Amino acid sequence: MKPILVTGGAGYIGSHAVKELIKSGRKVVVVDNLSAGHKGAVPEGVDFEQADTRDYDKMRDILEKYQPSAVMHFAAFLAVGESVEKPIEYYDNNLVGVLRLLTAMRDTGVKQFIFSSTAAVYGQPENIPVTEKESLKPESPYGQSKLAVEQMLPWVERAYGINYTVLRYFNAAGADKDGEIGLDNENATNLIPKAIYSLLHNGSIEIFGTDYDTPDGTGVRDYIHVSDLATAHIKALERLENGGKSDIFNLGTGKGTSVKEIISAVEKASGKKLDVKISSRRAGDPAKVWADSSKAQSELGWSPKYTNIEEIVATSWNWHSTHPDGYKS
Ligand code: UD1
Repeated sequence: MKPILVTGGAGYIGSHAVKELIKSGRKVVVVDNLSAGHKGAVPEGVDFEQADTRDYDKMRDILEKYQPSAVMHFAAFLAVGESVEKPIEYYDNNLVGVLRLLTAMRDTGVKQFIFSSTAAVYGQPENIPVTEKESLKPESPYGQSKLAVEQMLPWVERAYGINYTVLRYFNAAGADKDGEIGLDNENATNLIPKAIYSLLHNGSIEIFGTDYDTPDGTGVRDYIHVSDLATAHIKALERLENGGKSDIFNLGTGKGTSVKEIISAVEKASGKKLDVKISSRRAGDPAKVWADSSKAQSELGWSPKYTNIEEIVATSWNWHSTHPDGYKS
């Protein structure tokens, strides 16, 4: 059996995909440059190569060595705000990284590619829930770098026969229910880890705007459990293997949760009170975004197992509270 090569497999979402791949009986090779990933996230016995996808020679060598049947590509920078400050770094890592990887795939004959994309390709969507037909108007270099790859893939398929699946994640959240893996990034700018790190370090959490046109005035997002994202990758892989055509899918729960509801869920999971401060809106934040994932449900046969936000947040709290220093603890 040929292995599946997972770039960014030592990172947050990639490591959960590796776990699901192994559970489904696959052989896995993890490639990670460890700039944000952690060796501790890679299970014992899984082949690991420290490499950067921008390094064509190394990627070609790795592909030749392991002969994977498919590549799942998670390795990327992911912070929207940071991408506005560092567009060149984002295009270099997120766009050039894919270009070199696809070149190495072309040159070694690997024909299946599963790509991590994002709801950020929609920018401020006009229609909620958001379907894949929503207009694509990213508002950051991060979202734009992902969209640029999406737009490159049909041409790459046509010329070199590399089939692909693009998965557009909404807000990835939670951690493995067994508590073995989770997010390890104290600098995370997203709401749930910030609130939890704040509780662990006696800090406070800001609510960015309470004057949105939403039921409680705070921003509403679609928080999708990271293990559900992982299982969607397995479904996407099986579909490509069974001759399914290249396509794009939203991955979300279809339910919106407000910032205040997240804060309550964090307090409930931890049994502690957060020191909450009200701040003004964060530039570029839409009021509300949630997914229509019916296409993934019908075509991939995927649906999220975690639909209760308190349960999702509890898995995050379980991981962070038992690993206060991440993989070092
Ligand atoms: C997230 C991801 C982005 C992804 C997008 C997909 C991060 C940093 N961002 O963006 O990569 O493409 O989903 O839709 O992972 N908030 C506060 N206080 C805070 C932090 C956040 O009130 O300290 C609010 C925000 O204003 C927003 C909500 O919480 O309403 C969620 O914010 P965040 O977790 O940063 O995610 P997104 O901005 O939605």
